[in-house]
Amino acid sequence: MTDASQLKTDIEADIAAAQTLDALEAIRVAAIGKKGSVSALMKTLGKMSPEERQVEGPKLNALKRDITDAVAARKSALEEAALEAQLAAEQVDVTLPVQTQDFGTIHPVSQVMDELSEIFADMGFAVAEGPEIEDEFHNFDALNIPAHHPARAMHDTFYFPEKEDGSRMLLRTHTSPVQIRTMLSQEPPIRIIAPGKTYRSDSDATHTPMFHQVEGLVIEEGIHMGHLKGCLEAFVKAFFQLDSIDMRFRASFFPFTEPSAEVDIRCSFEGGTLTIGEGEDWLEIGGCGMVHPRVMTACNLDPERYQGFAFGCGIDRLAMLKYGMTDLRPFFDGDQRWLKHYGFSPLAVPTLAGGLS
Ligand code: DAH
Repeated sequence: MTDASQLKTDIEADIAAAQTLDALEAIRVAAIGKKGSVSALMKTLGKMSPEERQVEGPKLNALKRDITDAVAARKSALEEAALEAQLAAEQVDVTLPVQTQDFGTIHPVSQVMDELSEIFADMGFAVAEGPEIEDEFHNFDALNIPAHHPARAMHDTFYFPEKEDGSRMLLRTHTSPVQIRTMLSQEPPIRIIAPGKTYRSDSDATHTPMFHQVEGLVIEEGIHMGHLKGCLEAFVKAFFQLDSIDMRFRASFFPFTEPSAEVDIRCSFEGGTLTIGEGEDWLEIGGCGMVHPRVMTACNLDPERYQGFAFGCGIDRLAMLKYGMTDLRPFFDGDQRWLKHYGFSPLAVPTLAGGLS
């Protein structure tokens, strides 16, 4: 007869000494696995006399149970120790300053978009979006720019190949189609801005084939040009962080607004540096006007009941003016040195209360 109590002592010592889950599993298999030492002992029961079996059977069952329990206890101890070790290794001291240099920087265009959204949110504007691949209806027709209208030719549009029905998709040439999409999907009162990418076949120091615009649209009863001017003035002051700003509306033409104006702000180029807000020169920052009745009608709105204003500004240009960049092309080169120099901290989210930049 094999000494079961000696076997138990040996196996339990092995279990206690096991340092890894793999080693523990090997010990378990060697003891109570199919070909294990305890299993081999159990097999001897069959050859015993009934009296012997009555004595040895319960002993061996108890041995197997004790070993199973010892393995389970050691397993949970090892798992707990592994978790403790992992937690200790991954501990983060949340009181340490953040290592922002590892995050890269926020592109000036994204920064200005965040600043715009923050300023206009304060005036009750929501941010609206539309697709960059547009159809001719939203980009032109509904904006009162019919086919063969000279304004349509002036847009240097990137078209997709003609479809069977003769229509063509295009890369939106301005953010104004978002006006149409918003008027078709929402009931007035409407107050939105729509910052985003726009495309025209044009390329030099101040034009890139892809550029950014922000559109603004307000539709309510009783809206007039005074609201438009006040809104843009509040925006320009907040954006350039100036207490007062001299702004002028210059009569202009856009098919989707009547009357239409271009917006200039006073500036000076003296000494080769640009100063915003004072001086003898004027700088154009965008176009605007009262929403044309035909645009309202195309969007199923009654122009007798509702009035509205709209505006559109180039975001890249706003960024250049505010942050003193003279060339537009590096905006889209992805040069790490430029981004490091002109980029913004990812953690300094612009807010009106905490500062825009
Ligand atoms: N969509 C015009 C452009 O890209 C800009 C513009 C002018 C937008 C006047 C407007 C507006 O909403 O009222 O040239």
